[in-house]
Amino acid sequence: MYKAQKEIKKIISKVDLIIEILDARIPFSSENPMIADLRGDKPCIKILNKSDLADPVMTEKWQNYLEKEKSVKTIAFSVDQKNKAKLLPDLCHKLVPGKKNGVKKLHAMILGIPNVGKSTLINILADRIIAKTGNEPAVTKNQQRINIDNNITLIDTPGVLWPNIENKGSGYRLAITGAIKDTAMEYTDIAFFAAEFLLTDYPDLLKKRFDIDTLPDTEIELLEYIGSKRGCLTSGGRVELDKVSKILINELRSGQIGEITFETPEMRDKELVELIKIREEKTVKKESRKRNWKKKK
Ligand code: G4P
Repeated sequence: MYKAQKEIKKIISKVDLIIEILDARIPFSSENPMIADLRGDKPCIKILNKSDLADPVMTEKWQNYLEKEKSVKTIAFSVDQKNKAKLLPDLCHKLVPGKKNGVKKLHAMILGIPNVGKSTLINILADRIIAKTGNEPAVTKNQQRINIDNNITLIDTPGVLWPNIENKGSGYRLAITGAIKDTAMEYTDIAFFAAEFLLTDYPDLLKKRFDIDTLPDTEIELLEYIGSKRGCLTSGGRVELDKVSKILINELRSGQIGEITFETPEMRDKELVELIKIREEKTVKKESRKRNWKKKK
C-alpha cells in the first residue's frame, strides 16, 4: 500500500490532470481513497460512469457535490452516449490551457476500480480496442500510455485500485454493483443488504418490478415474496434463499429494477467520519503492537 502510494504520488507529479472514473451508482465507494490526499491542487475530472443505471436526480446531486471540491469537474457518462465522450478532451484542455495545439501533449492519468467501465471508455476515446492490462497492485509495471486525439496522452495505471472496503457498507455496495467478485461475499448477505436498502429508498420501483401492492416490512419477507413469485421453491415449498438472492442481485446490476443510486453525498460525509475513526484506531493498534514487539525483543 505504501509503495503504491509512493508510485501514485510520483505519477501525479508528472501528469497535468487526473481522470477518475466513478460508478455513478456508488460514487463514494468507487472513489480511490488515496487520490484526494495525493492530488493537491492538480485538476481532476470525475466521470460518473454507468449513469444509465443510476438515478438521474442523484447523479446531478452528486455532480454538484463533487464539484464543490477545488479544481474538480464532473461528467455523467454511459456507454450508450458515445458522443458525450467528446466532452472529455475539451474539458481537459479547459482545465489545462495551452496544450491543445502545442508541441507538448497534455498528460492525463486515468484510473478507476475494476469493472467501472474504464476500458470501455478508453476504447471510445482512442477509437480503437486497447488491450486490457492486469489489475495487480504494481502501478508502474502495468502503466500504459494511450494517445488519443486532441493532443492528449492517457496514462492508464491499473495498479492504483484500492476500493474503499474498510467501510462495511461500501463492501456491500461494491458487491451489489459487481465491483467485488461474487466469491468474496455470500449472495444472501448482499441480497439482504440490497433488499433493506430498496425497501426504504426505492419502494415504488420494487412495487412495479415485482407487482406488489403493499410492501412487506422486512428484507427477509421481501425475499420470500420475490422467491415465491419467481418459483424459487424447494420441493417442500420453502423459498430457496440463495436462488432468489442471485435473482435480485442480477436484476439490480443489470438495471432491470430501475435506475438506482445506492449512496448519497450526506452518506459519504457521515461514513467518511467513521472511516477516519476506523483508520485512527487501526494506527493506534499497529503502533501498540510494534511497541510490544520491541519490548519482547
Ligand atoms: P474495466 O475496464 O473498468 O474493468 O471495465 P470494462 O470497460 O471492462 O467494463 C465492465 C463491464 O461494464 C462491461 O460489461 C461493460 O460492457 C460494462 N459497461 C461499461 N460501461 C458501461 C456503461 O456506461 N453502462 C453500462 N450499463 N455498462 C457499462 P461486461 O463485459 O458484460 O462485463 P460484466 O458486466 O459482465 O462484468
